[in-house]
Amino acid sequence: MSPPAPTQYKFGKIPKHVAIIMDGNGRWAKAKNMVRVQGHRAGAESVREVVKAAGEFGVKYLTLYAFSVENWKRPKTEVQTLMGLLENFLRDELPELIKNNIRLQAIGRLSDLPENVRDQLHQCIQATRANTGLILILALSYSGRVEIIEAVHSILREIKLGHLDSAQIDEQVFNHHLYTRYYPDPDLLIRTSGEMRLSNFLLWQLSYTEIYITPTLWPDFRRQHFAEALIDYGNRQRRFGSL
Ligand code: IPE
Ligand code: IPE
Ligand code: MG
Repeated sequence: MSPPAPTQYKFGKIPKHVAIIMDGNGRWAKAKNMVRVQGHRAGAESVREVVKAAGEFGVKYLTLYAFSVENWKRPKTEVQTLMGLLENFLRDELPELIKNNIRLQAIGRLSDLPENVRDQLHQCIQATRANTGLILILALSYSGRVEIIEAVHSILREIKLGHLDSAQIDEQVFNHHLYTRYYPDPDLLIRTSGEMRLSNFLLWQLSYTEIYITPTLWPDFRRQHFAEALIDYGNRQRRFGSL
């Protein structure tokens, strides 16, 4: 992989893995007297811009919380719109992902997704699997608690098959049974629209992640805002419990 092109920003250290709770699409639309769907549409534009910027700034992993298990509780029309936008995004962005050397991955209960979305998703994952730049991880029908429970079941299966002894279970073994087993824990978590909660996102993985909460609504969150979050991160001192 060639080193990222120089930018006009002075970053300090760049987080290897950034996770984002993309929130505030509905409020953005409401403030403009638009319907919520239009907020989601504008939000998709932010996704495009931030993904591109992440690659340019030298971030290695970007995890985007795009749809939670709890989001299935929203009105059917909104869920359908979000699934449609996701399908379009995957279809339209594929050439751009390839051009920018981005590898797409997904975490969550992917079997919950409509078949056409799943097909499109697997196509993108396949088509980008050899790319060596940014790894873009979409969290879809994701729940941190579900992920942990699934890991417990997976460990129990291995014990039953005689592949694992219960005495061997430690953090590393547990980690190996999570959706995120291939990725390091996030260094930086960004949440837009000012909400101060995790909303069931990466509960295990965020234990020592730096948190950045901005009042900016997701559709307004663009390259410049992302750069500001990285600059803020560069000024943090991470101690991991030591001095
Ligand atoms: C984030 O925006 C998008 C998803 C959760 C899918 P919201 O739709 O939650 O927007 P607000 O929070 O209602 O403003
Ligand atoms: C979190 O946003 C989920 C995603 C961004 C996909 P929500 O809008 O669903 O979270 P709550 O309901 O405000 O906690
Ligand atoms: Mg919200």
